[in-house]
Amino acid sequence: MNLDLTDEQRMIRDVARDFAEREVRPIAAEIDRDARFPHETVKRMGELGLMGILTPEKWGGTGGDTVAYAVAMEEIARVCGSHAVVMSVNNSLFCDPIGKYGTDAQKEKFLTPVASGHEIGCFALTEPQAGSDATNQHTLALRDGDHYVVNGRKVFITNGREAGAALVFVQTDVTKGSRGISALLIEKSAHPGFTVPKCEEKLGIRASDTAEFLFEDCRVPIANRLGEEGHGFTIAMASLDGGRIGIAAQALGLAVGAYEKALAYARDRKSFGVPIAEHQMVQWMLADMAVAIEGARLLVWQAASLKDAGRPFSTQSAMAKLFAADMAMKVTTDAVQIHGGYGFIREYEVERFFRDAKVTQIYEGTSQIQKLVIARAVLGGKA
Ligand code: CAA
Repeated sequence: MNLDLTDEQRMIRDVARDFAEREVRPIAAEIDRDARFPHETVKRMGELGLMGILTPEKWGGTGGDTVAYAVAMEEIARVCGSHAVVMSVNNSLFCDPIGKYGTDAQKEKFLTPVASGHEIGCFALTEPQAGSDATNQHTLALRDGDHYVVNGRKVFITNGREAGAALVFVQTDVTKGSRGISALLIEKSAHPGFTVPKCEEKLGIRASDTAEFLFEDCRVPIANRLGEEGHGFTIAMASLDGGRIGIAAQALGLAVGAYEKALAYARDRKSFGVPIAEHQMVQWMLADMAVAIEGARLLVWQAASLKDAGRPFSTQSAMAKLFAADMAMKVTTDAVQIHGGYGFIREYEVERFFRDAKVTQIYEGTSQIQKLVIARAVLGGKA
């Protein structure tokens, strides 16, 4: 088994690392404090090819593989969880499904501007009553000639305020349950009746935007449907399989960022006459963190490699997300603990990683949903 990165994967990782250190680190604490979307640095991510890593160059992307995407995501999240989620949703939940299911006309119109970083994309599945229970869609899209008329509400949409276009899941046939769900590409500017009434105030990833969408008699051409009618839920689930690798890599990066701060602090801070790194209880915490991080990285790389090889990967992506998210919560908690009272105050920044880590156990499928997906796989059917 060869765990060496290829030249291309290393190059993409180095671009991400250099950008994160030089351009994101200086603003990361401030944009978190002010809950300010970082337009300039998100634009730079586009220029550097980080917003469309998985998209072929022909459609404005970088043409990288999923391993390259995961290592780049880790580097960005190691410095800022907010930049990481903007990049993750753009790559995995907007560009990847259009690349996989879109027509050439849809790719030209929707994919190229977003993969090249000129615009931002988002993914609108969740509704007030349809979070974990994602098949319970109430947003209706009824046919009227060569249009759908969309009515309904979507919540918790990452990139929702900033995105020019959204991949929106709607019920086109209420009699068919999950097989009556379809996916529509909807631009805000072209479709009156599509509004963003609210943005959320959040505990973490505060510099990213999380919005609510309202559709009121919003007319969308049938030509904007991604894939076949009734195929939307499969598109959503397959996209989330890939998205969960991105979020697992985000969780991994957050853990690495907090661990590095804890390591530096433990070497520097003295108690009882010696650096706290010389106390066995602190050493144990640092050792546990190092092992947990390596374990998560192996799961992330495994899921990414399976996806790149065109092999089934949904169970492994659920495993990677479950393990990495829970690991990130534990590692960032211990990193705060190692800092003692200083860990609890903003200046030391480790509390930002702790706050940002929490949502990785929730979005793109809670840790409990990942366990359900894994249990179904190991039991060979519906658990
Ligand atoms: N790939 C392709 N198709 C899949 C699939 C997958 N991974 N998983 C399920 N499907 C298909 C099934 O085969 C089935 O199709 P048929 O009816 O044709 O057989 C259909 O989808 C329905 O599947 P289930 O019967 O398994 O559905 P379910 O209701 O029992 O539950 C679930 C499925 C796993 C719980 C799913 O609802 C789920 O993943 N829930 C969590 C949703 C989630 O992750 N939401 C996050 C939204 S995005 C976000 O977080 C915001 C953001 O902006 C970051």
